[in-house]
Amino acid sequence: MKPLEPCGVRLAGTGSAVPPQVLHNRDLERMMDTSDEWIAQRTGIRERRICDPTKEGTFTLGRDALVRALEASGMAGKDLDLVICGTCTGEMPCPSTACRIASEVGATPAAAFDLTAACCGFVYSMNVADSLIRSGRFRAVGVIGVDAMSTAIDYDDRSVSILFGDAAGAAVLVRDPDPTRGCIYQRMHADGAGWSNLYIPRRPQEVPEEDRDNPIKLGCLRMNGREVFRFAVTKFRETVEDALAGTGLGVDQIAQFVCHQSNQRIIEAAREKIGIPPEKMPVNIDRFGNSSAGSAGLLLDQLRRDGKFGVGDHVVLVAFGGGLTWASGVWRI
Ligand code: ACO
Repeated sequence: MKPLEPCGVRLAGTGSAVPPQVLHNRDLERMMDTSDEWIAQRTGIRERRICDPTKEGTFTLGRDALVRALEASGMAGKDLDLVICGTCTGEMPCPSTACRIASEVGATPAAAFDLTAACCGFVYSMNVADSLIRSGRFRAVGVIGVDAMSTAIDYDDRSVSILFGDAAGAAVLVRDPDPTRGCIYQRMHADGAGWSNLYIPRRPQEVPEEDRDNPIKLGCLRMNGREVFRFAVTKFRETVEDALAGTGLGVDQIAQFVCHQSNQRIIEAAREKIGIPPEKMPVNIDRFGNSSAGSAGLLLDQLRRDGKFGVGDHVVLVAFGGGLTWASGVWRI
């Protein structure tokens, strides 16, 4: 058999989608005992987008984001041979959200599967897609990161509900003859010992002992905010520093650090410690909240459309979240 030619990966296009309905901190003030000031100060969030459950959700947001990414790529669904959807809020465990999206965009009979890595969904999926293209098995992959967190939120729980919003980001990745293009460095990690800091229980027996006395709604996200904060600040910094050390690139050689939008304080703490100027580590959490797997892809699309990076630039994707999981990918565009 002929040995595989080494290849690279081209980011052909990106797209994103958010629902039109805005849930402002002032709306939350009317729903629970909280304030715009408390939320903005602790998280940087002012408003987030929320699905209308009668007609929107993970599937529709993910589909719309991929349609836009295909448009931006000048490609059609039939050009894809794989669709990966990073999500933890798929409407159905079977079929995968990716299968339905692939069918809607005309990507049949492309392979399709969901990837569950909570807030790392998009970064994990991009890394996996890059590796599969480099393996020679696939030529064009539609990657989606999407979560409709509003479908898994208890709006009686003020410590969790204020953080989250709904969004999707997508990218189309295509085999390229230049092996130095695409994801030139990646790391994906998990530590399941910390799962109970961020989890969505379906059955009472899944609720850990220490959480059983609290008012819990099955199907809704539970979070130990302080532990997640500690984990995120440490891992975020370590992951970015590892990506720089692993590639030998300096901060000045990176066009943009595209980070999961978890909490503005987490992002700023890491950014200041590493010494990254604010314009290189942009935030949009003030307008969209934390959209879990949707956030990094949404931001990537906004930055690409704003011309913040172009061909030959380096872009670092970083995320951390439930699992617990954390991941990075350094992309040469
Ligand atoms: N409005 C007003 N008061 C509130 C609210 C609210 N929405 N939520 C909690 N409080 C109160 C608490 O009851 C507590 O009151 P008490 O002192 O009388 O007991 C007080 O505010 C302080 O509560 P803490 O939980 O200690 O508040 P903290 O400063 O830690 O902020 C927060 C909470 C914002 C959730 C923080 O822990 C955090 O950002 N954690 C990280 C969570 C995160 O980013 N998750 C993202 C999901 S995972 C991911 O993407 C990686």
